[in-house]
Amino acid sequence: MKKNSIIVLLLFTIITVTAQQSSIPEVEELLSKMTLEEKIGQLNLLTPGGGVATGAVVSENVEAKIKAGQVGGLFGVAGPDRVRQAQEIAVKNSRLKIPLIIGSDVIHGYKTTFPIPLGISCSWDMGLVEQVARVAATEATADGICWNFSPMVDIARDPRWGRIAEGAGEDPYLGSQVAIAMVKGYQGDDLAASNTMMACVKHLALYGAAEAGRDYNSVDMSRVKMFNQYLPPYQAAVDAGVGSAMSSFNDIDGIPATGNKWLLTDLLRERWGFKGFVVSDYTSVNEMIDHGLGDLQAVSALALKAGLDMDMVGEGFLTTLKKSLEEGKVTEEEITVACRRILEAKYKLGLFDDPFKYNDSSRPAKDILSAEHRAIARKVAAHSFVLLKNENDVLPLAKNAKIALIGAMANEKNNMLGTWAPTGDIQYAVPIMEGLKAVAPQASISYAKGANITDDKALAEKINVFGLRVTVDSKTSEAMLKEALDNAAKADVVVAVVGEASEMTGEAASRTDIQIPESQKVLIRALVKTGKPVVLVLMSGRPMDISEEFALPVSILQIWHPGVEAGNAVADVLFGDYNPSGRLTTSWPRNVGQIPVYYSMKITGRPGTDTFQKFRSNYLDAPNSPLIPFGYGLSYTDFEYSGLKISKSEIGLNSGVQVSVNVKNTGDREGEEVVQLYIRDVVRSITPPSRELKAFKKILLKSGEEQTVTFDLKPDSFKFYNSELEFIAEPGTFEIFVGKDATTDRKVTVEMK
Ligand code: NOJ
Repeated sequence: MKKNSIIVLLLFTIITVTAQQSSIPEVEELLSKMTLEEKIGQLNLLTPGGGVATGAVVSENVEAKIKAGQVGGLFGVAGPDRVRQAQEIAVKNSRLKIPLIIGSDVIHGYKTTFPIPLGISCSWDMGLVEQVARVAATEATADGICWNFSPMVDIARDPRWGRIAEGAGEDPYLGSQVAIAMVKGYQGDDLAASNTMMACVKHLALYGAAEAGRDYNSVDMSRVKMFNQYLPPYQAAVDAGVGSAMSSFNDIDGIPATGNKWLLTDLLRERWGFKGFVVSDYTSVNEMIDHGLGDLQAVSALALKAGLDMDMVGEGFLTTLKKSLEEGKVTEEEITVACRRILEAKYKLGLFDDPFKYNDSSRPAKDILSAEHRAIARKVAAHSFVLLKNENDVLPLAKNAKIALIGAMANEKNNMLGTWAPTGDIQYAVPIMEGLKAVAPQASISYAKGANITDDKALAEKINVFGLRVTVDSKTSEAMLKEALDNAAKADVVVAVVGEASEMTGEAASRTDIQIPESQKVLIRALVKTGKPVVLVLMSGRPMDISEEFALPVSILQIWHPGVEAGNAVADVLFGDYNPSGRLTTSWPRNVGQIPVYYSMKITGRPGTDTFQKFRSNYLDAPNSPLIPFGYGLSYTDFEYSGLKISKSEIGLNSGVQVSVNVKNTGDREGEEVVQLYIRDVVRSITPPSRELKAFKKILLKSGEEQTVTFDLKPDSFKFYNSELEFIAEPGTFEIFVGKDATTDRKVTVEMK
């Protein structure tokens, strides 16, 4: 071998060896002292129970395992003192005294519960989103938790899927902005501070594309679609420095995410440069047995080799990796690499310096559910509401109005927090009735239930898994209805709180019928017949099929599940103390048969038409367009757009352009508008979406005020992933649309040369 080649080889070896070592000397030193069993122990994440389990198994003998160095982390344990006890077992009784990482699901607030994430996304206000995450981190860390299984950034275009509630909707650009804001909010600038926590982006990947909207179902998708439509939010979280990622339950190209090397190593680490650790979802290693990939030993080895570092609850790593090593099915290096990543996370959190840094017993009283946090929750909730209809400008209501408040969820706490708020507590929730009375003490408000959320007892039982959400009343439907109609007859206006109970969405809560349950539809029809103005305050964790109600002469305020400050926020908006500014982040279908329906759908070779034409891409029985488009939402004021301009009519490849538009508040009250910009790439090498959101700005305008909104579009706005999965722009025409929602036809064009 020539001298030069020897030097190159030597250098290569040095670089490879150093690359496999941690840049944190303490971590390498610790690794050098660890036995194989201790390394495997770090890969084990357990939950001792007491919290809400999302799988069949809850861990056993947790204390003994911690002492034996067989546990890397815990979740489902909270409170500075309880966490301290667990941490003490690890740092006092295990041989190497390695602290535990303590995780939790804090996806829309800790005790100060915010609206469900889908609702939060409808604020289109990234400052607020970041603030939500900041508050959540402050409260969770006060309670001993330093690792959060959030943000959930799965793009979801199927409202049958119950977990659509947990994410930011259908759009990859908006979803990416939300992902970035959340990571920033949780992790702050200093992960080692005692009030910041490590974020965990989930569920990698494509979990929201489960076939038929059935939870945990298979996913099959082209790479081009993944890269352009589904992967951007995960990548955005990685670029924002997210410390960890969670693999999803579904398969991708036939290999479950948890054992998918292409996903966890080639894409996540090699292509995206992710440096953190990957945890499985709840027993998702073991579930690969049911997926049909072999026994526990085989699937655990598959997961490790794919790049999975930590095994949530299933203990496949703990119980089989040693044997796999002895049989040559995994290498010690693979175990060491995973262990190193977990130790690095603990180091970054500062746990080695002070394992008890999140265990200050004086913090919960001042940091959790503080008046300041509750005020933020109230503001965020009001910002998440979307005014879908305002019939005869019935809203806002006068503060001295005579109101018939009706509905099973109008005067209760049970459904206010929304799905997957396991750390929240319904006792702190403000019922809608209470909020209305507090904000408008002069109003005269009567209350009647009117109808059950559902009359279906079997369904009620399935929904009530985490506590009582739906009660089927002992009164007859007729008696309840009569009471509601009597109240309506005496009132100026009817406010009917209708929709879904909180656990009608969320994990393992998919529905094939996404209409308002029939019991409540009967009520709504009867209320409308009274001729009184009717305001539907619609609660749901998903976009619903409200075709029937939308056609009625009613007003509709969509409030999702608004969180702990529900009643106050609803009152703020109904009485006009806050002018609603939420915009939908999903398209609302006309019926389930249209699903998936999303604004960026391709045009096809036989473009659809508004009215049916044979041999066009249409339905016989419904238009192609959704009932309510992405980006839609009304205000108590009006906004007028004019003067759309572009800084250049021609641009070079890899350059950007500025687009500006004037927006005027033409109504008589202050309000916020979300100015949205969409791009259509007219000609390119792979079929383009009809348009894609590429920028937005939320602005506040006083009555009569006009503002010029300028978008500085960067070269990336014109790029896409081509068939070779290269992120490129191609020359040609781009149409740029600016307006209130995804249907806007106000446009300018630019030629890219
Ligand atoms: C299962 C869910 O899919 C995941 O989002 C959650 O973080 C874990 N359970 C832990 O609770």
